[in-house]
Amino acid sequence: MSLSLSAEQPAVPADADDGVWLECIDCGATFAPFEDVRYTCDDCDGLLEVRYADHPTFDDFEGRGVWRYADALPLSEGVTAQEGATPLYEVPRLEESIGVQAVRIKHEGMNPTGSFKDRGMTVGVAVATELGVDRLACASTGNTSAALAAYGSRGGMETLVLLPAGKVAAGKVAQASLHGARILEVDGNFDACLDIVQDLAQQGEAYLLNSLNPFRLEGQKTIGLEILEAFREDYDAFPDRIVLPVGNAGNTAALYKAFRELVQAGALAESEVPKLTGVQAEGAAPMVEAVENGADEVRRWDDVETRATAIRIGNPVNAPKALPGIRETGGTAVAVSDAAITEAQRDLASEGVGVEPASAASVAGLRKLRAEGIVDDDERVACLTTGHLLKDPDAAAAAGSDPEPVPAETDGVLDHVQN
Ligand code: F0G
Repeated sequence: MSLSLSAEQPAVPADADDGVWLECIDCGATFAPFEDVRYTCDDCDGLLEVRYADHPTFDDFEGRGVWRYADALPLSEGVTAQEGATPLYEVPRLEESIGVQAVRIKHEGMNPTGSFKDRGMTVGVAVATELGVDRLACASTGNTSAALAAYGSRGGMETLVLLPAGKVAAGKVAQASLHGARILEVDGNFDACLDIVQDLAQQGEAYLLNSLNPFRLEGQKTIGLEILEAFREDYDAFPDRIVLPVGNAGNTAALYKAFRELVQAGALAESEVPKLTGVQAEGAAPMVEAVENGADEVRRWDDVETRATAIRIGNPVNAPKALPGIRETGGTAVAVSDAAITEAQRDLASEGVGVEPASAASVAGLRKLRAEGIVDDDERVACLTTGHLLKDPDAAAAAGSDPEPVPAETDGVLDHVQN
């Protein structure tokens, strides 16, 4: 029950450090946060969450970006590249064609390395420094590797990234490469890469910075805090729903945790909590399957495929944190086709918002749920777009128009344009 919206504020255990500790979501065992490296519970292997003696309200936040929310984070400063404070775009034509009262696009592609992963890494790499580790590692469909490479090098640490060979978009590999990560291409999918990184971490060979790391999700909570603050400012109300693409379900878990902490602080009423709505690609939709079946556990899909390579994931490791979030907020999960994802990518681009395919899944999902009547026409919705268009230039070029050859003189160009 510790993951319900109305959970009591937990008692502060003796191993807390300045009001911060780690707690198992399954058995409730508690651990000191910065003494030893730990990702899951020593007793039952359950997922860990960062817990706090006190939760801030909106009045406590000051400054800009992720560290504006330091009072809601495990450390007061991090290894920063000025992440967060991303735009919340209006998209009037999309709003009209989908048919809801308001749609706003929270474009996480506008972070320093072009995805929301930077919010997690600024906290995660700071914790790595606190723990005194010197080698960082992640499995990745691309964006995590780009962010880890950038923040790891900024923090002066060695970085290893394991990528599924041939399945990572060009922009992301280029980023990891130039920021100095060792790129290990695995002959297997993302889930196989994560299995290996977990083994390496267990053997003490590297500090794991996938979203299984509870500290990373703390940084990603700030997406939710920014959306809520902006809606309150613009509409004098919180959003009815937040729609987001789902891979490992880290963001879903992080947003839910942000809401729970605001409820505990008395800054958000339970009735005001936005409905968390996850979107997956049809070819990689284990979370959708679990939500549709009302299951408590997710079945691992061994064969996954989608053009949205960032969310080509069959084993969403944060499902035990994310499923209660979808359920308790009255949200849902939906699968969309690759064709619908490309269409949504074009729709966003036609309003000046350039996103990678996985990001566009949120808009495709909203359109589908509105058409099915699951989303009402009076809802105000925030859609999360998680990565920038330039991350996957091949997908963008395939979805866009082709260059047209013209002669090198003005009349010839004019002639061509007029025909
Ligand atoms: N969108 C993008 C662009 C992503 O890169 C990811 C995850 C997600 C959505 C899914 O987020 O895991 O929190 O549900 N990318 C990871 C990576 C797996 O390695 O870059 P989630």
